[in-house]
This record gives sequence, structure tokens and C-alpha cells, in this order.
Amino acid sequence: MIERQEEPEQIEELAEEQAFEDVLRPQKFEDYIGQQQLKKTLQLAMSAAKGRQEPVDHVLLYGPPGLGKTTLAHVIANEMGRTIKVTSGPAIERAGDLASLLTNLEEGDILFIDEIHRLPRSVEEILYPAMEDYVIDIMLGKGPSAQSLRLDLPKFTMVGATTRFGALGGPLRDRFGLIGKLEYYSPEEISQILTRTAKILDIEISQAAVNEMAKRTRLTPRIANRLMKRVRDWAQVHGNGTIDATALEETLKLLDIDEHGLEAADRKILQLIIDNYAGGPVGIGTIAAASGEEKQTIEDVYEPYLMQIGMLARTHQGRKVTDKAYLHLGVKPPNNSSQSSLL
Ligand SMILES: Nc1ncnc2c1ncn2[C@@H]1O[C@H](COP(=O)(O)OP(=O)(O)OP(=O)(O)O)[C@@H](O)[C@H]1O
Ligand SMILES: [Mg+2]
Repeated sequence: MIERQEEPEQIEELAEEQAFEDVLRPQKFEDYIGQQQLKKTLQLAMSAAKGRQEPVDHVLLYGPPGLGKTTLAHVIANEMGRTIKVTSGPAIERAGDLASLLTNLEEGDILFIDEIHRLPRSVEEILYPAMEDYVIDIMLGKGPSAQSLRLDLPKFTMVGATTRFGALGGPLRDRFGLIGKLEYYSPEEISQILTRTAKILDIEISQAAVNEMAKRTRLTPRIANRLMKRVRDWAQVHGNGTIDATALEETLKLLDIDEHGLEAADRKILQLIIDNYAGGPVGIGTIAAASGEEKQTIEDVYEPYLMQIGMLARTHQGRKVTDKAYLHLGVKPPNNSSQSSLL
């Protein structure tokens, strides 16, 4: 989801990141740690579909960035023994783009559409009959002489992913037979993911360092893997290559990540609400303008985790910080503080 024009170094960094993610991406359910409930639901639907020799129902996966939606889409394809074709909402600009994708599918193929909330409306409408009845209506010609041609499609499985469930239209949402929300991982699950990562990358790390690292990862696998990589760099340059408590502490200091895994931008948002709006409530648009962060980034990235750890609350009037946030930032909470209104 990179919309900015990237500097050359950033592009290199992103390419490195991508290669790194590919190595670590679990291929099968047995390597996919956590998300137990969702895994069970999918496994049941998939084994039933296999028994009937049919493609599995369309799947919609949603949740904050880096929790494993893309990974899960690939796992579904691997476990079904099917080919996955990958595209994204913004990449499909015109109805014709989607029509050619759909008509090139083979029976049982998985069509993965990332950022599905960004599909243009005109394209979305073609998807409805494709998902429901495996047909597609193509318009031939223009004006009064235009004719509509109906084509049959092979039975396929659509897997959609989005960080913004609310931005998806009702008619599209309703055409998915399976809708799964990805939850933040527990620290124990993140520890398991870190241990797996260390093993794959041949990194030596103590269990204590793994457990401590897990607490600083926003309970998100992508961030966990990235942190592991940064600590490995530190250990290689300043230490003996083994990741220990010192390597971890020093790297966290360098990256300005605190004991809750919060980064400077998270703390800035909390501090701003405390300093300028007496702890809130304050509207998201105001927070965005005052912090210089994009409203969508706040909503998709910062806010879900701050809410998850109970530092931020959403009310009808806007966002409020909680006592926990005051204490974390070392500010005395006001007497009529957030906690009372949260109860
Ligand atoms: N359940 C898991 N077990 C082990 N590793 C995982 C798991 N989920 C994700 N990962 C790791 O985290 C990385 C990021 O996951 P992924 O790209 O699937 O996230 P995403 O939800 O698609 O994020 P985005 O919304 O930004 O597209 C993967 O490359 C993988 O290495
Ligand atoms: Mg993804």
C-alpha cells in the first residue's frame, strides 16, 4: 500500500523487505501460527469442498496490516493444491481488466484480490454475477446497437483481503461465503513466530530475548520479523552475532520503540490528545491535521493497536485516551478521567 513516490534507497529497502517476507511466509497451515478459530473454519470449509470436489467458497480476510492476510490466501491455495492468481483493487482500473482476468481462470483457481476495498465501483458490479453464478456479462459495441454477451466462467474461488472492512460495499461483502477477521497475536504466538524466523534465518537467540522481543512487536508478525532483522544487524556489528538482552535493548533504543512496542508516532498521537484536547474526545480529522499523519494511516495502523492495548478508546464524540496512556506517558490523569466514562 505504497502510494508515495519512493526515493531510490527506499525502493531498495522495500525490495529487500519483499525478499525477506517471501522466505519467511508460511506455506501450509501447520506453519501458520495462531488465528486458531479462523484456521479451523477455513480447514472445515476446505475439506468439505475437497470432498465434494468443488472449489471452496469465496473468502474475505480483513484486519490490520501485517497480520497475515496475504499469507493465508497463499496457504489456502497451497492446501487446496490450486494455482493462485494475484492482483489488487487499484490494479484493476477498468471492467475489461477484470473480464480478462476472470476469463483466463481455470477451474478451481484462486483469484486473490488484495486491497479489495479499492476496486472501482464499475468493476465491482461485474464481480457480483461472477462470484454468484460464475458468469460475466460483456458489452459489445457502444450506444443503441450495443449488445450484451454472457460468458460462462470456470468455478473459481475468490479470496479478497482488506484492512478496511467498513469501506467495502454491502453487496460485495454479502457474496463472500466465508468472512474472517484476523486478530492481533498473543505474545506467546509472536514468540513462536520469532523462534521460527530465527531458525529459518539461522540466527542464534536466547528464549529470554525472544520473549522480550515479542512484547515490542505490536503483536504483529510483520513487525516481529522486521525487528528480528534489525536486532540481528546490531548483534552482527556491535556484538558477537548472537542476539541477547543487550542487543535487543540497544536496537529498541535506536528505533525508539518503548516497552509497549509503541513508536514515536503512536506516542505523538497520545501526547497530542492529552496536551491539546485534555485527553479527548477529539475527532479523527483533527488528530490527523494536528499530528501531520494521514487520517487513514491513523485509522488503519496506529489506532487499532492503541485500542487493542487499551490506551485509546473510541466514543461517539471522538477518540479519548485512557488512564493507561496517561500513566505510560508519565502524565497524571485528570480526576474525571477516561476510565469512568469507559465503564
Ligand atoms: N500466522 C503466521 N505465522 C507465521 N508468520 C506469519 C503469520 N502471519 C504472517 N506472518 C509473517 O508476516 C509477514 C506479513 O504477513 P502478510 O503479508 O500476510 O500480512 P497482510 O495481513 O497481508 O498485511 P497487509 O495488510 O499489509 O497486506 C509474512 O511475510 C509472514 O512472514
Ligand atoms: Mg497483504
